[in-house]
Amino acid sequence: MAKLPTYKAGKKVDAVNGLTAYKLSSNEVAHAPLPSVVAAIVDAATEINRYPDPFTSKLNQALSDKFSIPLDQIATGTGSVGVCQQIIQAVAGAGDEVIYAWRSFEAYPIITTIAGAVSVQVPLTSDGQHDLNAMLAAITPKTRVIFVCTPNNPTGGIVTQQKLNEFLAKVSKEILVVIDEAYVEFNRDENAIDGIATLKANSNVGVLRTFSKAYGLAGLRVGYFMGPKNVADAVRKTAVPFGVSNIAQVAAVASLENESELFERVEDVITERRWFESELAALGFNLAPSEANFVWIPLGDRTEEFAKRSEGIAVSIRPFPGEGIRISIGERQALERIIELAKEFVS
Ligand SMILES: Cc1ncc(COP(=O)(O)O)c(C=O)c1O
Repeated sequence: MAKLPTYKAGKKVDAVNGLTAYKLSSNEVAHAPLPSVVAAIVDAATEINRYPDPFTSKLNQALSDKFSIPLDQIATGTGSVGVCQQIIQAVAGAGDEVIYAWRSFEAYPIITTIAGAVSVQVPLTSDGQHDLNAMLAAITPKTRVIFVCTPNNPTGGIVTQQKLNEFLAKVSKEILVVIDEAYVEFNRDENAIDGIATLKANSNVGVLRTFSKAYGLAGLRVGYFMGPKNVADAVRKTAVPFGVSNIAQVAAVASLENESELFERVEDVITERRWFESELAALGFNLAPSEANFVWIPLGDRTEEFAKRSEGIAVSIRPFPGEGIRISIGERQALERIIELAKEFVS
């Protein structure tokens, strides 16, 4: 366990010289929860002396209706990271291999190691995209699951449907391919994967989604898997019983009911992302377009310097030392401060 990497949560910073502190380091949405969602939570709070429904039946039904997917192909968990862990525990044991692009979501290596399985990390291309040919070449008889993260955290790029189809045609149906769509609601690239259609067309494909990002429920911990029935069954069995609280379940259902209001906010985030990217591009930063609620700046050796200086302006961002920084699209004032910092940085 000493070798187990520690999950690095996005930092908070302190206010500096009267400057309000902002957190752009965890890809959260900056909007407060919808009043209707808060009302549902308050209502459910009166029942916390009771265990929750272990099957999250109302949420599963709402998801089944929304995506036209049978109930037995849906399983929930404590955030999509919890579901991700349930998946690996369900399908990979000691010595089995889990393939994913790298750099990608930081929890993949941790939960793979916890399951006793082996991570096979396939480097992203130089422009931050999944290298699906190299991922194909990495498959061995021990491969049990392949994660495709799109849009990818932290680089923000998508995998196209065409490339995924070509890839899936060559992957054995014995191997589970999980499309991690934590940020899918922020994507506007029409060529990107349609995870739901793909899982319906392929017996070995599942989709991982979350209420933490576009739905603004990061603090409540609820995510879900949709995919092959046998995998959904196994994911339910590997879950910690009663992991998803009733409060989380009602908030998720209320969020689905108020989706149009939440998705207006998503549109705002996309508008802000485009503005932020164009400001950075005008300063000479070479950015691969992001389809998520964050932007990746490959700063290489200067990554830590930028992160340190952003602490000085009371904005926390997420540095990956030696590689780059990931900045969540949050409050306008915080993004403006980052632009000012970027101007100084390039001059
Ligand atoms: C790609 C990806 N997948 C899954 C998650 C897990 O999110 P949660 O556990 O909050 O649903 C994250 C969180 O940052 C992520 O970036």
